[in-house]
Amino acid sequence: MAEIIDGKAISLKVKEEVKEKVLSFKEKYKRDVTLAVVLVGEDPASKIYVANKMKAAEFVGIKSLSFTLPTFSSQQNVETLVKSLVADKSVDGILVQLPLPKTLDSDKILSLIPAEKDVDGFSAENTGNLALFKDGTAPCTPAGIMRLIKSTGVELIGKHAVIVGRSNIVGKPVALMLLKEDCTVTVCHSKTRNLKEITAQADILVSAIGKPKFITEDMVKENAIVVDVGINRTDKGLCGDVDFDAVKEKAAFITPVPGGVGPMTIAMLMSNAYFCALRRELRGI
Ligand code: GUN
Repeated sequence: MAEIIDGKAISLKVKEEVKEKVLSFKEKYKRDVTLAVVLVGEDPASKIYVANKMKAAEFVGIKSLSFTLPTFSSQQNVETLVKSLVADKSVDGILVQLPLPKTLDSDKILSLIPAEKDVDGFSAENTGNLALFKDGTAPCTPAGIMRLIKSTGVELIGKHAVIVGRSNIVGKPVALMLLKEDCTVTVCHSKTRNLKEITAQADILVSAIGKPKFITEDMVKENAIVVDVGINRTDKGLCGDVDFDAVKEKAAFITPVPGGVGPMTIAMLMSNAYFCALRRELRGI
């Protein structure tokens, strides 16, 4: 029977750590840490995520600025807003909530955010730093996943980590982070052959594919650490990628959905916003 990794409790601990650091920052530099959040359109899930980000910012003492633009905003309007936030010296971090409406060129909009204000860690520079194992802003969900894995206290060196999913937001960066921790890393995706044979070798299994209950008990190694990044909305409510009830009998540690990876993303965003502010102070920018 697996130990359930409590993402809610661990995320609260992260937020409390950030809260203390933000307080010291304000005392030392006599200014706020400021995060700008841009939401375009009416996507219901995005609205909830953004509201939760603002709530977390308030909790840790980060000043948040919210910008909501209509669904049919022009590319130019969105670019003008982002450029004004880039130029605004009081803004430490800029987050453009994804997905943007399909009429917009997301890559072009995200490319306007300089690495020093890139709280999501999505920029080419921050991605490159991650690949080179250099300091930078790490993407929030993968950073949260690493924190959950490390909370188990299990030695990571030499372990076989298998990631299912190769997205820029989760699969690719978490693969690099696990490689940095000296894991042997395999990245599986929709074209992978013999998926079950590979996942069954995983000491650490991270699933980020968005298919409800896709990872079944026979795909999991005895005593594995299983991290479920899936947030799938089904008739019966939220459901992860992992068949939780069956897999928990076999794994050593498992993250639940909800209450696993989800709360960690926002906590790590707060941590990134603080680090962006501190780095701007230290570099005098
Ligand atoms: N949409 C889903 N996850 C994320 C995230 O981590 N950052 C942003 N900006 N949008 C998202």
